[in-house]
Amino acid sequence: MDTRVEMDTIRQHLIDPEICIRCNTCEETCPIDAITHDGVNYVVKAEVCNGCMACVPPCPTGAIDNWRHVLRSEAYSVDVQFGWDELPAQDADMNAPAEAAIQSDAPTVASDTVRGSTIAPWSAARPYVQLYTHKAPAMATVVGNYRLTDAAAQSDIRHIVLDFGALPFPVLEGQSIGILPPGMNADGRAHHARQYSIASPRDGERPGYNNVSLTVKRVKHENGDGVCSNYLCDLKKGDVVTVIGPFGNTFLMPNHPDSHLLMICTGTGSAPMRAMTEYRRRRKETGRLMLFFGARTREELPYFGPLTNLPREFIDTNLAFSRTPGQPKRYVQDAMRERADDVARLLDDANTHVYVCGLRGMEDGVLEALEAIAGSHGLDWTALWERLRREGRLHLETY
Ligand code: FAD
Ligand code: A2P
Repeated sequence: MDTRVEMDTIRQHLIDPEICIRCNTCEETCPIDAITHDGVNYVVKAEVCNGCMACVPPCPTGAIDNWRHVLRSEAYSVDVQFGWDELPAQDADMNAPAEAAIQSDAPTVASDTVRGSTIAPWSAARPYVQLYTHKAPAMATVVGNYRLTDAAAQSDIRHIVLDFGALPFPVLEGQSIGILPPGMNADGRAHHARQYSIASPRDGERPGYNNVSLTVKRVKHENGDGVCSNYLCDLKKGDVVTVIGPFGNTFLMPNHPDSHLLMICTGTGSAPMRAMTEYRRRRKETGRLMLFFGARTREELPYFGPLTNLPREFIDTNLAFSRTPGQPKRYVQDAMRERADDVARLLDDANTHVYVCGLRGMEDGVLEALEAIAGSHGLDWTALWERLRREGRLHLETY
């Protein structure tokens, strides 16, 4: 018998500090509070983590999916992990036997902790992921930076176009990229990457161009201006940006005829919806598009003009404003309830794919609305939800 298996080894769960974008998704997802962070790194407590994998599918970059076989007595402590700039190498001696020993009784994903699909629609195109990394990033040139929100609106949301020139940068609608802002944080470390959804279709902002567009909201808070969003919003034409990615292999659109998209978004969550809508418009494919789009006011709505100009028979657009003076607060889930019959008809169709993107807080409200609509139309939501998840037809990306 191999003596290494007899030693008390564990398959220690680690987060790659070079790829992690510090979005907090893993910490929020972990059902047993095994993940924590300081001002620098997100780390996993070896003594708490049970390898349940609940955090792995929601991680937008894949940084979470790292494992090292170590002696239990030599597991990396949280304090050691806080000090890392990169992951330690795997000790070759520890590798294969421990893998076999531990994988046999590793639990599978608890489906009730994952609310959306962890697989892509069956007819989605194959995505490329992580072609460019921190060590070998892509450089892109800014070819456009336009304000999308009304000049009088509170939020400054921008449409930023990045051109990759001759560098291959294949993307699909629903994917995102990471931006490495220049400079250092207060600890003298390079700023970590921030993630942004791609707002353009796979064949470019205009067909045949090797570029991507982003929808970026300038983040300003009393405790400081957002590093990357302000950097991006201030970019000028000709500036060069450091990009990693692409990321994302599940929030992708179906490509089969007569597939329907039910899209629900707030604010910059409109970026992937714009990409998918524009792709469908270019391809002139059959299938229905229904959009619920929430913003504070009409003036705060990114992509308002182009969306409302699209014919109703191409896309059924429903806007919800929460802060229009003199009018009651209205969220996307209110608009969905108003259109319950049509939403239910879509939910009842096996070709419908549901996409939710935007504020994290909207997830609960939207799922509750879907449940209520299903229930009032004779659909068993528990069974339907499970089926949507299993078939790669319910995609949630909130931040
Ligand atoms: P940071 O420098 O990270 O934060 C600045 C300061 O503001 C910090 O002190 C922080 O504590 C504080 N702060 C930040 N937010 C808040 C808040 N809500 N309340 C109180 N204090 C706060 N953003 C887009 O604009 N467009 C997109 O398409 C987009 N897509 C995303 C896709 C994914 C999958 C994910 C995970 C995120 C996405 N984001 C998107 C968010 C984006 O990645 C950044 O988190 C965002 O731009 C803020 O980064 P920052 O560097 O400007 O702010
Ligand atoms: P609110 O007026 O309550 O902030 P933002 O401009 O901050 O990105 O938000 C976009 C839209 O999403 C706003 O109309 C905002 O309304 C709305 N919103 C905020 N919380 C939720 C929620 N829990 N569910 C749905 N929409 C929400």
